[in-house]
Amino acid sequence: MILVTGGAGFIGANFVLDWLAQSDEPVLNLDKLTYAGNPENLASLQGDSRYLFVQGDIGDAPLVERLLAQHQPRAVINFAAESHVDRSIHGPEDFIQTNVVGTMRLLQSVRAYWQALTDAQRIEFRFLHVSTDEVYGSLSPTDPAFTEGNKLEPNSPYSASKAASDHLVRAWLHTYGLPVLTTNCSNNYGPLHFPEKLIPLIIVNALAGKPLPVYGDGLQVRDWLYVKDHCSAIRRVLAAGRVGEIYNVGGWNEKPNIEIVKTICTLLDELRPKSDGSSYQTQITYVQDRPGHDRRYAIDASKIERELGWKPAETFATGIRKTVQWYLDNQDWVTHVQSGAYRDWVQTNYAGRG
Ligand code: NAD
Ligand code: TYD
Repeated sequence: MILVTGGAGFIGANFVLDWLAQSDEPVLNLDKLTYAGNPENLASLQGDSRYLFVQGDIGDAPLVERLLAQHQPRAVINFAAESHVDRSIHGPEDFIQTNVVGTMRLLQSVRAYWQALTDAQRIEFRFLHVSTDEVYGSLSPTDPAFTEGNKLEPNSPYSASKAASDHLVRAWLHTYGLPVLTTNCSNNYGPLHFPEKLIPLIIVNALAGKPLPVYGDGLQVRDWLYVKDHCSAIRRVLAAGRVGEIYNVGGWNEKPNIEIVKTICTLLDELRPKSDGSSYQTQITYVQDRPGHDRRYAIDASKIERELGWKPAETFATGIRKTVQWYLDNQDWVTHVQSGAYRDWVQTNYAGRG
């Protein structure tokens, strides 16, 4: 079996669902269920004997050690993290606790388990760490896209904590020999995305008739990767990646934020036209920029294509249409995640921006 951490979040849940749709190898999901963790994401697996959920913290060493001893996974895939840049600006502490201290404790627990395996099992074992392109810092408009050789130059508390975790993973290979793999991927989007991030926030606000907040001039560039493509990349790296290597994963879809917002408006105009005939674009509102806002991220994903034969299946046009349609079809899911705590966050992040 495999142990997935953070499997109740956006990417982790998509990964668990995809994994069990394609394989009968069981999954143990260890998730703390922070505000971002939602067991409803995996409700379709209820009663499925291949799936086991445990609520807990990756930094809880006695728990993790017990789970490893009991279930004997052949691989650990670490998705668990605090993941939202804006939250890291308002409160970095949780990011250091989970992304740095938690990752270090998880590595220690996994190392102790791995060292006690048989020689054959030790050779087969993998620890796959899921990270982000944000660790590489910000690009100018003419810089080449990030390769795996770029220096880590993180600029936000979130990306600094992820860069620290990447360094720890590297150190556990070089110091202890733990067979690790790291993926650094670009901005994901797709079903089950918590509506604090740009794409789901814009869809949800548009449908609710609320302002569509665009930070600064809206010309910041991100590379967008459909989440199911990210899941297939992780499966591929787990199966065939070279131990100790880093693989950048991207969608070859660099776009300025304002273009993303306008594309969503155009799709909604087609799929759910407003009763007064106006476009959702009339709701676009420019607001105060994010402090330290990285201008551009771009991923060069040629290594994973060259070495492992992985390429994204979706273009942005196909992926964003599927995503908008998913939110239209799953408005109950949206209502459930917009709890009291979600409303508090919206107040914290947007009230002072004008
Ligand atoms: P998410 O915030 O949606 O989910 C994170 C999950 O981790 C939640 O279920 C949460 O409950 C769980 N968690 C948090 N702290 C934990 C802890 N201490 N112990 C156990 N579980 C804990 O995040 P996501 O968007 O699914 O991202 C998953 C991973 O991918 C993260 O490591 C993130 O840094 C990375 N990543 C995300 C993106 C993106 O666009 N979303 C891009 C690149 C990399
Ligand atoms: P986000 O989804 O938070 O991802 P990240 O900061 O990790 O890239 O934001 C994506 C881009 O959208 C980023 O440049 C910030 C911008 N953004 C807005 O313009 N308005 C918003 O309300 C949010 C949440 C983000």
